[in-house]
Amino acid sequence: MTANPYPLGLRLHGRRVVVVGGGAVATRRVPALLDAGADVLLVAPELTPALRARVDAGRLHWVPRRFQPEDLDGAWLVQVAIDDPMAAASVSAVAAERRIFCVRADDRTAATAWTPAVTRHGPVTVAVLGGGDPRRAMTVRDAIRELLAVRLGSDGIASTRGQSGPPAGATGGTDVVDATGTGGADGAGDVVGATGTGGATGTGGADGATGTAGMTGAGGGRRAGRVALVGAGPGDPELITVKGWRLLTEADVVVADRLVPGLLLDELRPDVELVDASKIPYGPSRAQEEINQILVDRALAGAVVVRLKGGDPYVFGRGGEELLACAAAGVTVTVVPGVTSSIAAPAAAGIPVTHRGVAHEFTVVSGHLAPDSPASLVRWDALAGLHGTLVILMGLKNLAAITATLIAHGRPPQTPAAVVQEATTGTQRVLRSTLGEVAADLLAADLRPPAVVVVGDVVGALDG
Ligand SMILES: C[S@@+](CC[C@H](N)C(=O)[O-])C[C@H]1O[C@@H](n2cnc3c(N)ncnc32)[C@H](O)[C@@H]1O
Repeated sequence: MTANPYPLGLRLHGRRVVVVGGGAVATRRVPALLDAGADVLLVAPELTPALRARVDAGRLHWVPRRFQPEDLDGAWLVQVAIDDPMAAASVSAVAAERRIFCVRADDRTAATAWTPAVTRHGPVTVAVLGGGDPRRAMTVRDAIRELLAVRLGSDGIASTRGQSGPPAGATGGTDVVDATGTGGADGAGDVVGATGTGGATGTGGADGATGTAGMTGAGGGRRAGRVALVGAGPGDPELITVKGWRLLTEADVVVADRLVPGLLLDELRPDVELVDASKIPYGPSRAQEEINQILVDRALAGAVVVRLKGGDPYVFGRGGEELLACAAAGVTVTVVPGVTSSIAAPAAAGIPVTHRGVAHEFTVVSGHLAPDSPASLVRWDALAGLHGTLVILMGLKNLAAITATLIAHGRPPQTPAAVVQEATTGTQRVLRSTLGEVAADLLAADLRPPAVVVVGDVVGALDG
């Protein structure tokens, strides 16, 4: 008989954790380590785009080669996120020699530590180990999560309020059916077909071991696949909707963008197939057609697919293209709106996009093309004439040209402006400036994407 594990809360802030492997498992595990403040050293010849983005942002160190024993110098913990059992065993052996706890994705029985299924509510973290059965751990974790969502506020403090969340039967999104080609893609509000209940079978643990996503429903028969386009919110994992979270817990496959909150991925069942569809600004990108094809292929194979996108799927998220591709292939799609960064990022910086007596309109615009680009669809000259709030997404690279154009067409250079980087996350940064100076201030402050630029008197509206 195996002895019970001894639960601990590791305080990893500033402490070295070595992650060996740069694939899907590492992509899921690294965000929680960073959230705990760990000094993460990633050892892997190749990285997923999502991990590469974190390296580029200076959030972790990367050694681009295979593991060597000296990588564990100074480490408190090692996570082996590779599926080659020989290589994993050799990392594990070095860790054991040095008395460093070792989590193994490939073989939980050979590991000296397991990662539990986790749910986080403000300062409260609940970790569940399922006595060796990862599905039991996930099921118990999900039940606790729902219970706490009702009982605790987002700050983790017991609330006296009644039941939170949408009323039973409420639909937070627009369901679109086009199995016959008659549903159209215009969000006509039809009801989706069978949803199935978690037919996935996993052999791994909550400790990150991998398994295979099953495609059969509770009765063992083949079930209809489907796709949900889910807005994950701007960064704080608690800003996903209740409906979005529920669909994630039902997913066999999750196709995720770089900007989705990493902690949501950490909470997925281990048997869920995670497809990294990261599109890194100005860097390597995966063709949209390929993403569309993945959604269609998996759904036609019977999988419940969640396409998880940062913010809202339809705000510069290419959600419309994905819906059309699915509809053309006869795949049922559910659209779950998300909290968009265009409103949430200003809010997180204390800036309301409208304010009584200050701004009666706000305009959200993409700055990914320069104002003089022939491909630009934006009338910057017209925007310069508005008095209200301008929220610019993807605009850092072209900010000097954008602000110059707005000023040239009449927006006063002293108009307040702000830049909010990585809003609603632990690494949020806010710069306050003016339209005339924000481009230079941005460079001096070394702000980087993802960031939202806000222009208008609302920037100072709540200042005391
Ligand atoms: C491709 S757009 C996707 C927008 C997303 N669909 C939404 O509704 O928020 C990516 C841009 O959104 C903005 N963005 C997304 N998340 C952000 C965050 N947490 N903080 C600041 N800006 C963010 C940045 O301007 C970024 O370049």
